Amino acid sequence: MEIKITKTATPKEKPQGPLGFGRNFTDHMFTMSYTEGIGWHDAEIIPYGKLEFSPACAVFHYGQETFEGMKAYKGADGACYLFRPEMNARRINASNERMSIPQFPEEDFLHALKTLVKLDLDWIPDGADSSLYIRPFFIAADEVLGLSISKTYRFMIIMTPSASFFGGLQSVGIWIEDEYVRAVRGGTGRAKTGGNYSASMAAQARAQKEGYAQVMWLDGVERKYIEEVGAMNIFFKIDGKMITPALNGSILQGVTRDSIITLCKDFGIPVEERPISVDELMQAADANLLQEAFGAGTAVVISPVGKLRYQGKEVTIGNGEAGETSNKLYKALSAIQRGEAPDKFNWRVQL
Ligand code: COI
Repeated sequence: MEIKITKTATPKEKPQGPLGFGRNFTDHMFTMSYTEGIGWHDAEIIPYGKLEFSPACAVFHYGQETFEGMKAYKGADGACYLFRPEMNARRINASNERMSIPQFPEEDFLHALKTLVKLDLDWIPDGADSSLYIRPFFIAADEVLGLSISKTYRFMIIMTPSASFFGGLQSVGIWIEDEYVRAVRGGTGRAKTGGNYSASMAAQARAQKEGYAQVMWLDGVERKYIEEVGAMNIFFKIDGKMITPALNGSILQGVTRDSIITLCKDFGIPVEERPISVDELMQAADANLLQEAFGAGTAVVISPVGKLRYQGKEVTIGNGEAGETSNKLYKALSAIQRGEAPDKFNWRVQL
């Protein structure tokens, strides 16, 4: 794949002060189009800027889109690293398959990504909790309101220097949702698509009003088994064992989730992927066996959960702060991502 590169004539000032998450964007973006009968064409890197689309563009009406979240890190050694980017290339194609969006060659995805990151390398922020968050996405681009599978698409990559989503290892409160559901088996839960996130907003708004940062979803059929949290997969430490819900078709197959499971096994920490019911969780809390909980995701890395609320009852986990295992896993994962520890699992890609 040949990428035409047009560099900006007016590089932007880098943001000063606290970065927040996803608020400032780098100088360039990648864009490529798809037309039925032609395939993917016109790979370009152009200055970051506004797009022009028809108000009838399919994605605005029916939400046919997919996206990924990835990060580029600046290591203490000055080198720049991506973390397991091939997993995102694979996962976005799995999402595309579910959302009837054409497949995109994985080697082209990686080529586009590396070319763009290298061009905006000086946008990777310094700082232990900061990184360059990368957002690849596909959208349906047909200008037609008929409900049909689009014949044209756009693939884009934008990048934003960001701090960690919830402020590193600061613990958050989670609301366990028993009215709304995020996904059902056979639905789009395993795909990374905007609709899963927009469907979460009503519950999220209520949780935030009550003082909780995110919503924990239960399964859409029985509202019994724990699935995932708004922006992350979830892990519990119960009686010395790590437990995370098994991938059942309606849970996102997290790259961080997979990395944590691998790290646990490597550390000799018992880890189980299995269905876990909210009743089991609350009983463990009552019996003082719920020792830790944390979310895991690209944006949040590891986000300790300090308290949970379910049907009017609030439980505090441990002393409400990051526990020993959460700390250990966070440090181990960050050190690998930032080139500060040996890359035992071959996860890093140096740019
Ligand atoms: C990510 O962790 O990369 C995500 O896509 C979650 C998003 C809600 C920020």
